[in-house]
Amino acid sequence: MTTQEIVAMSKHYIMPTYGQLPLAFVKGQGTKLWDADGREYLDFVAGISVLAVGHSHPKIIEAICEQASQIMHTSNLYQIAQQAQLAKRLSELSFGGKCFFCNSGAEANEAAIKLARKWASINRSDIRPQDRLILTALKSFHGRSVTTVTATGQDKYHAGFEPLAPGFGYFEFGSIEDAKAKLTPAVCAIMIEPIQAEGGMNVPPPGFLQELRDLCDASNCLLILDEVQTGMTRTGEWFAYMHEGVEPDIMTLAKALAGGYPMGCCVARPDVADAFEPGNHASTFGGNHMACAVALATLDVIEEEGLAHNAREMGDLIAEVLGPDAHPNIAEVRGRGLLRAVRFQPDVVDARDVQTRCIEAGLVVNAISADRLRLAPPLNITKDEVATAAGIILGALDDA
Ligand SMILES: Cc1ncc(COP(=O)(O)O)c(C=O)c1O
Repeated sequence: MTTQEIVAMSKHYIMPTYGQLPLAFVKGQGTKLWDADGREYLDFVAGISVLAVGHSHPKIIEAICEQASQIMHTSNLYQIAQQAQLAKRLSELSFGGKCFFCNSGAEANEAAIKLARKWASINRSDIRPQDRLILTALKSFHGRSVTTVTATGQDKYHAGFEPLAPGFGYFEFGSIEDAKAKLTPAVCAIMIEPIQAEGGMNVPPPGFLQELRDLCDASNCLLILDEVQTGMTRTGEWFAYMHEGVEPDIMTLAKALAGGYPMGCCVARPDVADAFEPGNHASTFGGNHMACAVALATLDVIEEEGLAHNAREMGDLIAEVLGPDAHPNIAEVRGRGLLRAVRFQPDVVDARDVQTRCIEAGLVVNAISADRLRLAPPLNITKDEVATAAGIILGALDDA
């Protein structure tokens, strides 16, 4: 099918929830993509921080083929060796927690929210069940289910979907004063992204996560870190909380967890996790043989290829070659590791126009707002590819 035919068929048969570009990729290899008309692109979006190890990595293909030839799914009615092995690896890589597996970021956050409330039913009997409040940050993004969209502190995602889920309050990201002001005796947890990606690539001031940790400890509340986008070495450490040395009580993962195969996970400190009892929570597909085998292969590739190190080095290089010295229209490079956004000077260029020009020149980037272009390439991107991408972006800025 040509791109034109795909666009026409999608318009007719697919619900109009996405503002899709008229681009259909049909092949990916490493950091490269090819569209339905045979054009080649350098991928600086990586399926929105999903393809950490790049497209069609041989180890991922091998894991998929090998597992598919054995057994793909049985259900959580039975033991799953790969699930136990993956939980052990994630636990050892993070803070010694126990895992619940699901299929997406929103589901991982749903699990975290339910777990925090179940924990509060045991440990915070001072809070009435109907009052158990969870604080989240303004400009956050936690998913699109009714509960996680309510947790998302952005009105634009709420409009039209009222009534929203009860039990959420919001504070200003980066302001410990505002978090303290909103922390009423009914609050049982604070949920936050270590870096707000969808909300503008906002990195909190140094020490903020520690202050939130201290606030939670002092008020017997849980700290939930949404590492759906920041986790799995995207920011240069296995999990972004490691930059600050601040451990959460609950952490959520998805996106890169299984290298492109749909998977989510909620990891919790063992004593918190044990608030769940059999029958409290479940997912038909969650943690099946297939997803776990691919996630285990993804972890292997990240370790064997030193992708955390490369994310740090290439992220620093992006900040250097696309910093304010590189072009008068660039205000700053935000983010950490290979989770970056170039912010343009206000009202000079439109990031969506820059995005279009980059794509025309063979570079896939993503405008997250009128003044910000997200750069989140596969973590095995090379110096030469960063230089190529920077050249295209600077050229697009000249033309925009
Ligand atoms: C921080 C964060 N949390 C949750 C989600 C939701 O993940 P999913 O789309 O897999 O449900 C996203 C998606 O962009 C995200 O960036």
